[in-house]
Amino acid sequence: MVRVAIIGASGYTALESIRWLLRHPQAKLTYLASRKEQQPVSEMFPELLGRILLPVQPFDAAAIAKAADVALVCLPHVAAMEHVPALLTAGLKVIDLSADYRLSDTVLYEKWYRHPHTDKANLDRAVYGLPEFFSAQIKSTQLTANPGCYATAGILGVAPLLQESLAATDDIIINAASGISGAGRTPSQAHHFPERNEAFEPYNIGSHRHSPEIEQTLSRILAQPMQIIFVPHLVPMDRGILATIYLKAQPGATEQAAVAALERVYANAPFVRIRKGQLPSTKFVANTNFADIAVKLYNHRWIVTVAIDNMVKGAAGQAIENMNLMFGLPETAGLL
Ligand SMILES: NC(=O)c1ccc[n+]([C@@H]2O[C@H](COP(=O)([O-])OP(=O)(O)OC[C@H]3O[C@@H](n4cnc5c(N)ncnc54)[C@H](OP(=O)(O)O)[C@@H]3O)[C@@H](O)[C@H]2O)c1
Repeated sequence: MVRVAIIGASGYTALESIRWLLRHPQAKLTYLASRKEQQPVSEMFPELLGRILLPVQPFDAAAIAKAADVALVCLPHVAAMEHVPALLTAGLKVIDLSADYRLSDTVLYEKWYRHPHTDKANLDRAVYGLPEFFSAQIKSTQLTANPGCYATAGILGVAPLLQESLAATDDIIINAASGISGAGRTPSQAHHFPERNEAFEPYNIGSHRHSPEIEQTLSRILAQPMQIIFVPHLVPMDRGILATIYLKAQPGATEQAAVAALERVYANAPFVRIRKGQLPSTKFVANTNFADIAVKLYNHRWIVTVAIDNMVKGAAGQAIENMNLMFGLPETAGLL
């Protein structure tokens, strides 16, 4: 049984992790760390009443290491790298859901996150936790950087057609829309109900922090520098991401070849489903760890559509998938 601690227990990704872990056959929640330690967990999340008796405790790396084998760090960036070093030193495996260990270049991190990176030593050994492309490295690391939600959808959609030389490597456009839970549980005016309800709008064009993450990962997969255009949108749903991706098709390429390429690249990826008839929808993946992908050829362009649940494949589910790999469990354990 893998013993699991959650750090930052009162947030959305923590709740989603708790929900999945309560049903995991080979993992057990043993420590909930929060700054709100005086509250019972069912007061933070009324839906958990009667389902979990664990106390909520302060962050104490030594106590966490006694109780747990792995910590899911569900904190905002910067706060994460303030806590991760102590957890690693205490001997825990760590899966960080924040962005602190995703960009391997500290200069890039400091440019996009406007904060100095304070844990370069651990950054250098962190593995990017996208199992479809890096499962071998994830299996042997102590520290996994869980990918961003938009980044997961974008990379899964773009990489295969480039790997299989069916698309040009320039002029790649990722348009993606996310439900509001992507912004976390901490309230803000921008995410207040009257501001968001009935509003579908783009934001952070050219400045969204998942752009360098997508570019870094595609560059790594393809072993050449990659640039993309990424335009995020907010849509008034609780959860879900739908990415529509435009790539230039190589002359003579057929839709059949593209579907075959996706099937080849994802032959051993239990959570990627290739949709051949109906196109992906956030409805079909809500509350699941699946990424649904379809590809169409239209006026010499590939239109790749990808749907994920930002809270599951985009966060907690992928973290548990990574945990499974790090502990030699079946990748799908607790997630189907
Ligand atoms: N929401 C998503 O769809 C999503 C997807 C992928 C990745 N992520 C990433 O996952 C991380 C958590 O996201 P979330 O949506 O769960 O956020 P959230 O709902 O805002 O929760 C974050 C939790 O972190 C703790 N916290 C906040 N500020 C802190 C600080 N300065 N020092 C220590 N603890 C602090 C709080 O818990 P306590 O008060 O209980 O300690 C808070 O509830 C973020 O880095 C986010 O970018 C989120």
